[in-house]
Amino acid sequence: MTTRNLIPLTIVLTVMTTNCSSNHREFGKTPSGESVELYTLKNAKGVEAAISTYGGVVVSLKVPDRTGALGDIVLGFDDFKGYLLPPPYFGAIIGRYGNRIAHAAFTLDGVEYHLFKNDGDNSLHGGKRGFDKVLWTPKSLNGLALQLTYLSKDGEEGYPGNLSVTVVYTLTDNNELKIDYTATTDKDTVLNLTNHSYFNLAGEGQGDILAHELTLNADRYTPVDKGLIPTGELRSVEGTPFDFRQPHAIGERIGSNDEQIVLGGGYDHNFILNRTGDGLSLAARATEAKSGRVMEVLTTQPAVQFYTGNFLDGTIHGKGGKVYGRRSAFCLETQHYPDSPNHPSFPSTELKPGETYHQTTVYRFSTAS
Ligand code: GLA
Repeated sequence: MTTRNLIPLTIVLTVMTTNCSSNHREFGKTPSGESVELYTLKNAKGVEAAISTYGGVVVSLKVPDRTGALGDIVLGFDDFKGYLLPPPYFGAIIGRYGNRIAHAAFTLDGVEYHLFKNDGDNSLHGGKRGFDKVLWTPKSLNGLALQLTYLSKDGEEGYPGNLSVTVVYTLTDNNELKIDYTATTDKDTVLNLTNHSYFNLAGEGQGDILAHELTLNADRYTPVDKGLIPTGELRSVEGTPFDFRQPHAIGERIGSNDEQIVLGGGYDHNFILNRTGDGLSLAARATEAKSGRVMEVLTTQPAVQFYTGNFLDGTIHGKGGKVYGRRSAFCLETQHYPDSPNHPSFPSTELKPGETYHQTTVYRFSTAS
């Protein structure tokens, strides 16, 4: 080997050692004895994301506060067994269909499909065994990203078509957790993929999120009925507790007697994003004053479900045995509108053979003084 050849090699090695890294360990075993792995991605600034092959769950996400101290800002469990309990869907990939499908049924190409009713009369977050409860096949991409793949067989959970899904988690050196979703099918089908991380920017288990300030780039939202199914109306947020176009504390209007707040038991609604073009556009910004942590959410999706952990009731003991009480976290689930297969006027969630579904969401972290 000549000296000339050695120079580029040295440069490559330097880049690799100063960039992100990934490692993995066994996280646990499924009830049928399959090994579940936990992959940790780490960027040059020490930010860390741990992701499980079971459910593609973001188990922990450690980002700096304004002093540079890292804190874990997502709810979850230290022990894999926690994820086998009835779900609040902590950190998981949600599919095939994020949020609700009314009466657990829809018609596609003249055929009626029936799903599992796991939320009253409705189907929620993929049914009995959604993508949050399956084992994904991992592949580390140059130590910078984790690729997870899953083949959802024709008829699984009642949905048509063999659906081949790839989710790639990337931790960038700009302190962004980027999630890319890709899917193809061999039969006409419907899908709505998202991630169900529960955030508390003060740190998981550090009380409620009511003092977080939130901005949502949405002029309209989809009001719901008592089963939390969209009525079909696209309602203006103007003059309502749903107007987050300027920053508001999450708790400021959460106790209001607005009919929609009462139905949701707080915020549990789909906000229609004000989009510019097809690319990534800013959906939301959340800030937490004590830690100084800021999270921005950018997405290619048309909407975001803002959910304030209204169903958490203090019965779940999470990491370090911490009690996760009501509203101890919030979710920003970027998505298509709930129940779209039953609302022809909503943006379509259909996928046909030959087409490729592709969505990207970025959770970007920084601090403010
Ligand atoms: C979503 C739903 C909520 C609830 C949570 C999980 O955000 O909209 O109603 O089901 O998931 O508990």
